[in-house]
Amino acid sequence: MQNPKLIKRILAIETSCDETAAAVIKIKELRTENLDSKASVLSSQFSILSNIVASQINIHKKFGGVFPEHASRAHSEKIIPVVEEALTKVQSTKYKEKNKDNIDLVAVTTGPGLIGSLLIGVNFAKTYAYAKNLPIIGINHWLGHIYSCFTEKELRTENLELRRKNSQSSDLSPQISNLPSFPSLILIVSGGHTGLVLMKSHTNIQPLGETLDDAAGEAFDKVAKLLGLEYPGGPAISKVAQKGDPNIYKFPRSMLDRKDYNFSFSGLKTAVLYKVQELTKRYPLNAIRSQIAYEFQQAVIDILVGKTIQAAYEFKPKSICLCGGVSANKELRQQLKMAVEKLPSKTSYHVPSMELTTDNAAMIGIAAAYQDKSKYTTWDKINADANLKLD
Ligand code: KG4
Ligand code: ZN
Repeated sequence: MQNPKLIKRILAIETSCDETAAAVIKIKELRTENLDSKASVLSSQFSILSNIVASQINIHKKFGGVFPEHASRAHSEKIIPVVEEALTKVQSTKYKEKNKDNIDLVAVTTGPGLIGSLLIGVNFAKTYAYAKNLPIIGINHWLGHIYSCFTEKELRTENLELRRKNSQSSDLSPQISNLPSFPSLILIVSGGHTGLVLMKSHTNIQPLGETLDDAAGEAFDKVAKLLGLEYPGGPAISKVAQKGDPNIYKFPRSMLDRKDYNFSFSGLKTAVLYKVQELTKRYPLNAIRSQIAYEFQQAVIDILVGKTIQAAYEFKPKSICLCGGVSANKELRQQLKMAVEKLPSKTSYHVPSMELTTDNAAMIGIAAAYQDKSKYTTWDKINADANLKLD
């Protein structure tokens, strides 16, 4: 294994579900300081030299969801071309990297996810690290989503307004950067997971609550199917919801009356099912689709925003971050932003750029860039774990 002291370029690989993804991250500056017992990275400046995603949407569309065996087959077909493209792209005119094999560390998603999918990325990453004699680091998929908020350039537009509003405050002054400050409250919303996390430092990440049944993205996908819309359901629902009106139908906002930070979306999904069954006896699906989509989307947003704000009152975070595939939803991004602005104490708001919302490898590379060197290991110590927990 090479001496891991100077890590400049990270090859990151992500295959936990239905996207085969590879990225190269270049670390420009890494500032570390002893915050707690372990050395913590305080800020990191990097460029995403390449971020390649081969989506399997067309394969899974006909099943209305991810079909695991087809997913792993597609990953094994795509992994080499996708990594090759990510490595080659670094030589583009924009970055002008001379050598496409100039990699110092391999980062790979080891879980959670579909085991057949994870294994393709993990085995490829292990082989690459072995063949090139490189250190390797396993990254939890949710940690990747969290770190999609720890990029500077993409956050500027959405934070600009907040910064202007609080222009007297030094915390958000432009020279200090617009990275989240600790403690940060993170809302992770994707197809496989929905939960709230309190991040006190890069080494202190505490889950506050999670979904007891379906993830929010999963609910979007299932309701889309009920409404005759294609997989993935999130973008399809948000598109038709634009034509819907408020106050036509009313669906439940579950768990908002509870003090804990768990979520539940299965009751909402069942309420939509019953409503669609009742209404389609009288009307064609076309006539009710946008109203149902509107109210379903708003119910999900009310639950997510309500729980996040409830946690913000208790934990008084300096920053609130939204991440995961569902964070691509513009209404959710906007409504959470408005709720954060109304909090009594100054709180910055961070969302990833659109390309970092759904599964990608850049977020895995960014998470790796922030990890302590003690987590670097060798190819023979890395394994996929479908049920990996955030620790
Ligand atoms: O993070 P992600 O790519 O994969 C997992 O880690 O699960 O999230 C995928 C989920 C899907 O359920 C998809 O329907 C949802 O993100 N999604 C959206 C939107 N775009 C993607 N949900 C709501 N609105 C969107 N615009
Ligand atoms: Zn994901």
